[in-house]
Amino acid sequence: MKVTSDWKKMKKEGEKITMVTAYDYPSAKQSEAAGMDTLLVGDSLGMTVLGYNSTVQVTMDDMVHHAKAVRRGAPDTYIVVDMPFGTYHANVDDGVGNAITLYQKTDANAIKLEGSECIDIIRRAVGAGVPVVGHLGLTPQSVGVTGFRMQASDEAAALQLIEDAKAVEAAGASMIVLEAIPSDLARKVTSVLEIPTIGIGAGVDVDGQVLVYHDVLQYGSERLPKFVRPFADFNTTGVEGLKSYAEAVKAGTFPDASTTYKRKVFEE
Ligand code: KIV
Ligand code: NA
Repeated sequence: MKVTSDWKKMKKEGEKITMVTAYDYPSAKQSEAAGMDTLLVGDSLGMTVLGYNSTVQVTMDDMVHHAKAVRRGAPDTYIVVDMPFGTYHANVDDGVGNAITLYQKTDANAIKLEGSECIDIIRRAVGAGVPVVGHLGLTPQSVGVTGFRMQASDEAAALQLIEDAKAVEAAGASMIVLEAIPSDLARKVTSVLEIPTIGIGAGVDVDGQVLVYHDVLQYGSERLPKFVRPFADFNTTGVEGLKSYAEAVKAGTFPDASTTYKRKVFEE
């Protein structure tokens, strides 16, 4: 299993970091079997597995419940877990307390929080021994303010994002997710930081990539964002499998001898 200090080393050595989201026991088991460097229990679970239209409704209890299942499925993989909306903006003390609680209850390796408003929380959580991952650019918890669209697309916003990334690094974060920003900006941020950048919709010139499990495998996902390439099609194989099962039941061809216990309890 990777440890937090490996991330800087991988960046230095130019080895790309692979990350995918995982939300439950089977997705975690598959991701560990696939050899992912790290898993993210993203609050995107609100959309991908709970069917909400944003991450805003996701609670601390939801994150703990799912992250514990992911840990059981991937005991030997570095796991990052998202702090959900509303648990780190009211004040610094509660934010730090929630970071510690989430880390401790889930046995994750790091917590992630969005934006540059929370520099003090990052510094104090790291000081308390909780590894922290930052997240800049499109931050889905703020979708009500920003919309789901590319961020930092003009020079002033881009320069601000570079300053924010430096501040997140200075506060002690061990990686930064960069979501939905121009690729030349992502390259620039990557070149000025010592900690790795993990891109999603940020082009190829970053230190690693993250995608949502349900997007990579097309599993329940409908409209894929521009930056997703699907690598499998669970939607099609899943629906086909279920249809075949239903047809076999209707036709009386399932179960058959091979799927029925042989033992009889009545004499003929
Ligand atoms: O919740 C999530 O899936 C994320 C990734 C998109 C980075 O935060
Ligand atoms: Na998230």
